[in-house]
Amino acid sequence: MEGKGCFICIEGLDGCGKTTQAKLLVNRLRKKGFNAVYTAEPSEGEIGNFIKKYCLNCEKRVSSVVEALLFAADRFEHVTKEVIPGLNGGKLVVSDRYVYSSLAYQGAAGLDLEWIKKINKHAIRPDLAIFIDVEPETVIRRLKPKKSVMENLETQRKVREVYMKFVREGELVKIDGNKPKNEVADEIFAFTLRFLKKH
Ligand code: TYD
Repeated sequence: MEGKGCFICIEGLDGCGKTTQAKLLVNRLRKKGFNAVYTAEPSEGEIGNFIKKYCLNCEKRVSSVVEALLFAADRFEHVTKEVIPGLNGGKLVVSDRYVYSSLAYQGAAGLDLEWIKKINKHAIRPDLAIFIDVEPETVIRRLKPKKSVMENLETQRKVREVYMKFVREGELVKIDGNKPKNEVADEIFAFTLRFLKKH
């Protein structure tokens, strides 16, 4: 763990409920007395906002190499300006998406996972990485009308396959995201508390 804090990231397909769950987790941890903060990628910084406009909310997907490099640059700023200072201040930092999103989305687009890891060397290892698992068909139903270039069945299926590889390798903890919102939140909270007790 970096500094005195703890770094948790929440991952999943578009429309799996990550943002809701990351915010619920922060609220519940705060009620328990933890100094928890919510943060997200792409970030609210200049590179993050550029990504949203240039790579996500546009007509055609840009090259996956460009995506990977931009997300890695945004991540560097996110990690150095928000995550590490938070951890050094003893905070519990909950990130809505992190490096596994690059591995899953840009990996699913055909990029070598080892290269993605290399350009993300600056991305410190999270203490806990949670994957909210929802079927690609379900998220596509939830995501109407479509918002970004990633929101199609074929992409979501490929992305899930890469996430599942990291679940099998023990890097991501899988939580069933098909249940009602509060049940998913209970499960994530209970798992996080057990994790915090152990560490
Ligand atoms: P998302 O969490 O869906 O943002 P919002 O809730 O604001 O719509 O993330 C935006 C998209 O960016 C999502 O489709 C996944 C994609 N993405 C990548 O392809 N690579 C990355 O490294 C990250 C962080 C996100």
